[in-house]
Amino acid sequence: MTTPDRPGRLSGRGALVTGASRGIGRAIALRYAEEGAKLFLAATDRAKLEEVKGLAEAQGAQVSLQTVDVRDRASVAAMVDAAAEALGGIDVLVNNAGVYRAARLVDTTPEDFDAVIQVNLYGAFHVMQLVLRHMQGRGRGKVVNIASTAGKWMSMNQSAYNASKHALVGLTRCAGLEMGPLGINVNAICPGFVETDMLEAFRAHGDILGVPFEQVKAAGLARVPLRRFLKPEEIAHLAVYLGSSESDGMTGQSILLDGGMVVA
Ligand SMILES: NC(=O)c1ccc[n+]([C@@H]2O[C@H](COP(=O)([O-])OP(=O)(O)OC[C@H]3O[C@@H](n4cnc5c(N)ncnc54)[C@H](OP(=O)(O)O)[C@@H]3O)[C@@H](O)[C@H]2O)c1
Repeated sequence: MTTPDRPGRLSGRGALVTGASRGIGRAIALRYAEEGAKLFLAATDRAKLEEVKGLAEAQGAQVSLQTVDVRDRASVAAMVDAAAEALGGIDVLVNNAGVYRAARLVDTTPEDFDAVIQVNLYGAFHVMQLVLRHMQGRGRGKVVNIASTAGKWMSMNQSAYNASKHALVGLTRCAGLEMGPLGINVNAICPGFVETDMLEAFRAHGDILGVPFEQVKAAGLARVPLRRFLKPEEIAHLAVYLGSSESDGMTGQSILLDGGMVVA
């Protein structure tokens, strides 16, 4: 039985959100639910996904979920097939799953490098490519990649992460060019510091620099003109715009949302 569309800026749109169990992905899923989207949530942690599903359902959303390891092509293919089936077609992809490692380039082992690249680059590639194949058959769709300020600018002691996010910005540009004529928009959000578990991983910068984490955090804040870290919900607002028809005229863009950290 099909349920009637709920009102909102994403009314009736079927959205697949990766990394929906925590942080930015969770906030996007909940904002999408508020805006009338149907949801398919994916990440590795089923219990946390169930929690988000419950919250989104309480807002009236139709929600399905599946565990996925975005590094694993077969797991991604199964997720995309299941999402297409559950949603009656994927209208919006939020390609958000990601990991973070801090290390000086000279200390980064090939294994450390691979651990980041496998999720942030290959994972994003697998998900985006398989969803785009699905969307091109439908002649419409929206892709919202979650990159980072690290995808636009230099940053110290996180070279694997920086490389992965620069590559994602590049993939976004290429996909925007290739998919534009098919009516598919591909854009990215480049968040600055956002208060999630990932910000805790930033702690390692203190060890690298030999200073307390609080000092690293204060130095980070000093680089932000708004003098605060962003909330995940603030990233979700832009993700709503990029997933809705309001952004139909935009593609291939990677938009900074960073409290003014880099004003160019
Ligand atoms: N927080 C920031 O300051 C910041 C700034 C710029 C960009 N970003 C980007 O924003 C995105 C979300 O980050 P966040 O801050 O929300 O981090 P987070 O709280 O650590 O959440 C990361 C999410 O990615 C999922 N994930 C990780 N590895 C995965 C894998 N192999 N397969 C499937 N899912 C996987 C996690 O799922 P499980 O928990 O289920 O494993 C989790 O849902 C990332 O791409 C990150 O690079 C974050």
